[in-house]
Amino acid sequence: MKDSKLTTRIVHADEGQKNEAGALRTPIYQSSTFVFDNVEQGAARFAGEEAGYIYTRLGNPTQKNLEKQMANLEGGDDAIALGSGMAAVSAVVMNLLNCGDHMVASDTLYGCTHSLFDELLPNWGIEVTFVDTSEPENIRAAIKDNTKVIYTETPANPTISITDLEEVVKIAKEKDDITTVVDNTFMTPYLQRPLEMGIDIVIHSATKYLGGHGDTVAGIVVGFEELIGDIKMTTVKDLGGIIAPFDAFLLLRGIKTLAVRVDKICENAMKVAKFLEEHPAVERVYYPGLESHPQHELAKKQMEDFGGIIAFELKGGFEAGKNLLNNVELCTLAVSLGDVDTLIQHPASMTHSVVPQEEREKAGITDGMVRVSVGIEDVDDIIEDLKQGMEQ
Ligand SMILES: Cc1ncc(COP(=O)(O)O)c(C=O)c1O
Repeated sequence: MKDSKLTTRIVHADEGQKNEAGALRTPIYQSSTFVFDNVEQGAARFAGEEAGYIYTRLGNPTQKNLEKQMANLEGGDDAIALGSGMAAVSAVVMNLLNCGDHMVASDTLYGCTHSLFDELLPNWGIEVTFVDTSEPENIRAAIKDNTKVIYTETPANPTISITDLEEVVKIAKEKDDITTVVDNTFMTPYLQRPLEMGIDIVIHSATKYLGGHGDTVAGIVVGFEELIGDIKMTTVKDLGGIIAPFDAFLLLRGIKTLAVRVDKICENAMKVAKFLEEHPAVERVYYPGLESHPQHELAKKQMEDFGGIIAFELKGGFEAGKNLLNNVELCTLAVSLGDVDTLIQHPASMTHSVVPQEEREKAGITDGMVRVSVGIEDVDDIIEDLKQGMEQ
């Protein structure tokens, strides 16, 4: 199985059939706790001397199958499935950082990741420096004696700027106690595998492409044995942001079609990006598949394809954007991304409204920016809808 091609492992790596009843799909173990044969067995499980389940906050077979599958696809040895992407982000950074530590983070991040880093972490004595990580020298310049983590999102939400992960690994290695963390939500392991490039931890909002159908909120952390084991036994065990068995089942189901969904999404997104780039009402398009993207060459090197998220600015600024969003019919006005249906939203007033305006503008998140998550519909219909929305 380990040697099979990625597309095959996407379908088969969940080991769902290894259950007592021989069910084709992983059963939903909807149970809060697990029965011990005797006191000795319970004590041995708590002591870590005997494998087996104890209590669902500490592990559950449905969750375990999902974790095994994600570890396999990302090329790690272990994973943790959590109740949301933010539960994954917070479990990781609160494990890695203590009072007095410092982190270097991208200045363009999902809005709530930014507010966790900018507002909550400083309350606990953790300092964060935000830099434009698309320029690796900015990361190097921000490193201090107490820097413990470099945190990036690539492509970043919503500006689609790209960070060179090999450079991040090189910079981290210049000091011996830095852990590198990458939010791989926009790419999924099908398009980008940061662990293979030397990154220590990968995070996903599994709510997005991994689930793929807009019906689950979940998060994933993937990495190597010691670090993942430590996160499990600290910020997952004690803060408790675990995934519910039913949501783990929905993700196992969603991941089976990841490759075909993402292939279609990438094909559609390229056509939509080209259409937008040529439309007279559009000022600028941010899509790494376009030659006009400043990091198009890096995107080709680091990613298998360019993904489904496009940001663009209309010549008429915020008012024109509002007009488009209020007039689309097929594209759905909703936050989130990575679903089979095309979703469209306005970052400055929605997903990134928690980021102060000055910081938003510095990171390139303008008031006139619109973000579209391209779906699997017929691309002519998506384009026609955007066209009629812009022209009304
Ligand atoms: C890149 C990225 N990371 C993390 C998150 C947070 O994930 P969740 O909403 O599942 O908590 C999001 C949500 O939009 C996101 O886009």
